[in-house]
Amino acid sequence: MNLGVVKVRNSLILMVVLVVNVLCLMSITMQSMAVWRPGRAAGTTTPITGGGDSDSSHKYNNLQGVDGVSAPASFLSPGTPEPTVPLNLSAKVLKKVDKMHQVLNLSRFSDDAIYPATRIGRYLMAYRNLCLDVDRVHVIMIVHTAPQNLHRRQRIRDTFGKRSLFYPFNVRVAFLLGKTANSTLERVLWMEHVRYNDTVMGDFMDHYHNLTLKGVMGYRWVSQYCPNSDIVLKIDDDVFINTYKLLYSFINHMRGKPKSIFCNLWYQGTMPILREGKWKVDPRLFSKMKYFPYDYCSGFIVLLSSDLMGPMHQAAMTTPFFWIDDVYLFGMLPNVVGGVTYYNYALAKNMALNDKLAINCTVEQGARCPIFGSVIADHNFSRYWKMVSDLYVSGDWRVDNKLIE
Ligand SMILES: *[C@@H]1O[C@H](CO)[C@@H](O)[C@H](O)[C@H]1NC(C)=O
Ligand SMILES: *[C@@H]1O[C@H](CO)[C@@H](O)[C@H](O)[C@H]1NC(C)=O
Ligand SMILES: *[C@@H]1O[C@H](CO)[C@@H](O)[C@H](O)[C@H]1NC(C)=O
Ligand SMILES: *[C@@H]1O[C@H](CO)[C@@H](O)[C@H](O)[C@H]1NC(C)=O
Ligand SMILES: *[C@@H]1O[C@H](CO)[C@@H](O)[C@H](O)[C@H]1NC(C)=O
Ligand SMILES: *[C@@H]1O[C@H](CO)[C@@H](O)[C@H](O)[C@H]1NC(C)=O
Ligand SMILES: *[C@@H]1O[C@H](CO)[C@@H](O)[C@H](O)[C@H]1NC(C)=O
Repeated sequence: MNLGVVKVRNSLILMVVLVVNVLCLMSITMQSMAVWRPGRAAGTTTPITGGGDSDSSHKYNNLQGVDGVSAPASFLSPGTPEPTVPLNLSAKVLKKVDKMHQVLNLSRFSDDAIYPATRIGRYLMAYRNLCLDVDRVHVIMIVHTAPQNLHRRQRIRDTFGKRSLFYPFNVRVAFLLGKTANSTLERVLWMEHVRYNDTVMGDFMDHYHNLTLKGVMGYRWVSQYCPNSDIVLKIDDDVFINTYKLLYSFINHMRGKPKSIFCNLWYQGTMPILREGKWKVDPRLFSKMKYFPYDYCSGFIVLLSSDLMGPMHQAAMTTPFFWIDDVYLFGMLPNVVGGVTYYNYALAKNMALNDKLAINCTVEQGARCPIFGSVIADHNFSRYWKMVSDLYVSGDWRVDNKLIE
């Protein structure tokens, strides 16, 4: 055999492969560009498909996807405006919704589109294959994050959200964002999106009064693009999760429990409705009530069975808007969905608002510490991560790794 010819052939093949790769990359970049351009006025992100977009043939034009995968027809497409009352609601559900309208006294908002699911708009950023590249996702982490918190997103990618650390479990992370008026930051976000494919941006301004929209977008996104997930973990970006404990221990407790929510539970009639400060509720909303009339969760760490995603999103088409996301996402929507079971993974037992408590518990009890998640101060993060990963990478830690009920 003539080695020279083989060499030439090999380098030809190599060149072809290279060219194909470059073309692929170019086409991805072009597609990305096609769905995004710098905003006109205040640097808002504008998808190129115009107007109200009632044309459902354009459904996925605003997504970055380059593949042939499309969502099942039963899922709502992001570009399609949603009908106000799409469901054939039972009398029981109608009564619940009616009561919510009353306590929220929405007369003064009546001209508004009051249903969150109708206010999210299209995805300005979303990658459709984040979950669909595998058959089954054991945990999809939905992280509510503010546009400027790049370092928090990065540390999650590098630590407890890093796929390769948890094989054979499939872990995925999606960061949920709203729009920013800062055009420099917007460009950075776009680069981040193209690089990691893990940010999902909705067509609403990122603001704490819009967190409910972000959460409903999360429900919608998982039901569309991560329907192969078992468990949905909603967290804030200042949270630390012990993914090892979650996967090897807690998940066994969650399996086979449909329509379930696992969180630190606030029981109805116990959490005061604040009328002052940052979380001040307008006196006309829940007027004359001292306490929230629904069971709901502390929203910083919440686990949900993924069968709830579709129903929750649908419920958000008929459940009147309330801006405190914990109450809306984990109280009002499950209330409308009905038949949801809460499991109280109480504070200071399985999760903590105080990193001192969580770190101390890990120091004292090692892998037996039952806390799997905590709010964490930025400067304590890497130390705590190192402690946890050292513990789990070595040693026989799978014993006695229990949930406290
Ligand atoms: C709604 O459901 C009821 C009872 O399930 C049924 O009788 C009715 O025909 C349905 N209406 C529509 C518009 O589907
Ligand atoms: C806009 O974002 C950039 C990048 O994050 C930041 O450096 C800058 O301070 C921001 N500008 C304003 C006005 O917030
Ligand atoms: C992001 O998506 C593109 C297009 O499918 C793919 O080529 C690339 O490898 C992905 N990047 C990452 C980090 O997953
Ligand atoms: C929420 O988002 C909407 C849509 O972008 C915007 O009009 C509204 O001002 C935002 N709310 C706040 C409090 O920023
Ligand atoms: C409901 O809102 C209207 C208009 O703002 C107000 O006049 C009325 O007092 C409110 N009802 C209650 C029960 O607060
Ligand atoms: C974490 O940070 C706080 C300050 O925010 C500090 O007081 C505390 O000691 C730190 N905890 C640990 C365990 O390092
Ligand atoms: C850590 O735990 C020990 C024993 O549980 C307790 O005595 C100590 O006060 C704790 N320290 C902190 C900083 O919470």
